Amino acid sequence: MRGIYDVHCHILPGVDDGAKTMEESIELIRKEYEDGVRSIVLTPHFRRGMFEPKMEQIYEAFDALTFAVRRMNLKLYLGCEYHVNMNMAEDLIEGRRPTMAGSSFVLCEFSSEDKAAYINERCYQLISSGFTPILAHIERYPALTKDFDQIGALTELGCRMQVNAGSILGRDGFGTKRFCKKLIEEDLLDFIGSDAHDRKVRPPLLGACAEFLEKKYGADYARTVMCSNPSEIVEHL
Ligand SMILES: [Fe+2]
Repeated sequence: MRGIYDVHCHILPGVDDGAKTMEESIELIRKEYEDGVRSIVLTPHFRRGMFEPKMEQIYEAFDALTFAVRRMNLKLYLGCEYHVNMNMAEDLIEGRRPTMAGSSFVLCEFSSEDKAAYINERCYQLISSGFTPILAHIERYPALTKDFDQIGALTELGCRMQVNAGSILGRDGFGTKRFCKKLIEEDLLDFIGSDAHDRKVRPPLLGACAEFLEKKYGADYARTVMCSNPSEIVEHL
């Protein structure tokens, strides 16, 4: 499948625990291209006390990477995987961290121990401030994976759900794979990301994921979650 979007990855060099060098970034982008990916939203971590790269450093890395792959037929956008805190909406409004490709979408990471009530409150605050939360790898939050009514309620509130390609493929264990299957069957999945960090431990797997979804759920479904839904993020540009 061609025209796939990657909406979650750590391919920007030297800014978080993802790609360390420009060479590694380019190699990961080549793999994404071979997989059929043509649009990538680069989403370096932001997490207080753990990942706080300076925005100047991020812009510099983004410009350098965009230049390095300029001859490839693919588009790069800047985003952020924001580990949710009480000041998130303010940070976004003030432009201290970027939204997804300058849109109203924001990729939100929670901790695995966060309760559903907290996730709800934070998402509600973001929506009230005009943002559209995308829950990053929702398969990692037991408060939600155990309770599909909560996922349904968050979707009704206006949130979108993202899972990692590796989780769909079973790389994160059988329980996670089974959760992804149910999320798909309940039609609650909106986006898929590679969450790629490196070549070996957490590599980009969107090509294999596209094949798997086409085979299991048909080409239309695969295109919807891998191409049409994510195209909404960059449509306003
Ligand atoms: Fe991530």
